[in-house]
Amino acid sequence: MKNRRIKLAPSILSADFSRLGDEVSEVAKAGADYIHVDVMDGHFVPNISVGPLVVRSLRPVTSLHVETHLMISDPDLFLEEFAQAGSDSILVHWEGNNNLHRTLQRIRALGKRPGVVINPATPAAVLEEVLTDVEQVLVMTVNPGFGSQQFLRTTLPKIRRVRRMMDRIRPGCDLEVDGGIDAVTAPLAVAAGANVLVAGTAIFGAGDDVAAAMEKLRAAVTEG
Ligand code: DX5
Ligand code: ZN
Repeated sequence: MKNRRIKLAPSILSADFSRLGDEVSEVAKAGADYIHVDVMDGHFVPNISVGPLVVRSLRPVTSLHVETHLMISDPDLFLEEFAQAGSDSILVHWEGNNNLHRTLQRIRALGKRPGVVINPATPAAVLEEVLTDVEQVLVMTVNPGFGSQQFLRTTLPKIRRVRRMMDRIRPGCDLEVDGGIDAVTAPLAVAAGANVLVAGTAIFGAGDDVAAAMEKLRAAVTEG
């Protein structure tokens, strides 16, 4: 189906925050590729989560690539802060951003990896003009705001469209999916063209053994 190495990006949203450093070390030991940090402001999405302080606290704990998914109303106001806190990638939504090109250039100017995120109701076509400015596209497979939601299968044709567009104009760009990813849905997303899987509940919510949970996910997307 693919021939691409699939990367796993555990989302700390479902981690035990009383022992966040240990949780991150455990997924790192179990072979995580990125650490996914979900930032929510209570405006862009109806939930509040964490800010730059948490990225800063994680920085000495892990050498893994920290990607920061900004679900906030005015991301431009906080780019510098997240960059200084130690984010490696900064992912901003297409929705509600009147000057997305400028935002992406700013992220790059800060020396960080820019990524664009689209919600389930947003068509793949909006990516056409920004694809050459990003290193990563994140297709939301749930409506953003909460962990533990059900994967929306209606996003699969869109993932395929994004992959086709990438193959045409931006090969090498990461295609990430986020929301409801588990051992059942991960193979569907990968078959559609995703190569980076965000997973919160399936990794941190699966009981104590995050290594076994990650292995299960990995096995689900590994052929033969
Ligand atoms: C949703 C967040 C996701 C979420 C994924 O708004 O962007 O990263 O934590 O959680 P699960 O894997 O539980 O669906
Ligand atoms: Zn996310």
